[in-house]
Amino acid sequence: MIMQMPDAGDLPVLKAIALLGGCRGPVRVSTQGLSTTLGTSPQTISRRLKSLDSTHLITRIVDPTGQSVEVTKTGEEILRREHAEYCRIFSRTGGHFILKGAVISGLGEGRYYMSLDHYKNQFRMNCGFEPYPGTLNLRLIQQSVPVRKKLDSLEWTTIPGFSDEYRTFGEARCLPCRIHGIPCALIVPGRTHYPEDIIELIAGVPLRDELGLEDNDIIEVEIGYD
Ligand code: CDP
Repeated sequence: MIMQMPDAGDLPVLKAIALLGGCRGPVRVSTQGLSTTLGTSPQTISRRLKSLDSTHLITRIVDPTGQSVEVTKTGEEILRREHAEYCRIFSRTGGHFILKGAVISGLGEGRYYMSLDHYKNQFRMNCGFEPYPGTLNLRLIQQSVPVRKKLDSLEWTTIPGFSDEYRTFGEARCLPCRIHGIPCALIVPGRTHYPEDIIELIAGVPLRDELGLEDNDIIEVEIGYD
């Protein structure tokens, strides 16, 4: 299922329900109470609750005395993503890092994984772009290997795995970065053990075409928010 981005106005209501304990089970809420909390009219709250219900971010049972609402798994994922974004904004471990490496060709597997709807959607939601189908592989110069190791202590986003009827696809970690100002993400597939000097990158655009890159060209990857 493709996860819809919630209407921006629905998000504070989702968060308010979660703050009332709605991620742990059904909680009773009143439109009046939520409207006071959020400083908006009960009519607006009512509309937002219906919208959250119809986009499957909450489940809702309405009875004559009020309603019980619960945040769904999808709703929780939306809130977790918000949380990860705030962590990135305020992260004290942020810093600024540059990795330098040579463009290399891989085994052509990136194209396959990045074409799967699940990963495409997850990366779209977590990185803010839908990945071009493929991964750009770099072999780091020796001086960048310790820098790459330091990145492990930063706040990476976990992209969950999934299963179809034939096989299981593993989770991956990603970290936003930029190459010549183009938003990219470093990705580390869960089960792969790469040599420590190899990194994989995704972007919303074909980086080789966009930057005129060929094998062995040296490029810089910038990580950080300051
Ligand atoms: O594994 P391999 O590098 O052979 O290929 P891939 O991951 O299947 O990606 C297909 C091609 O697109 C490769 O030449 C990548 O270097 C390139 N690519 C790109 O130019 N820009 C991206 N954002 C991702 C991949």
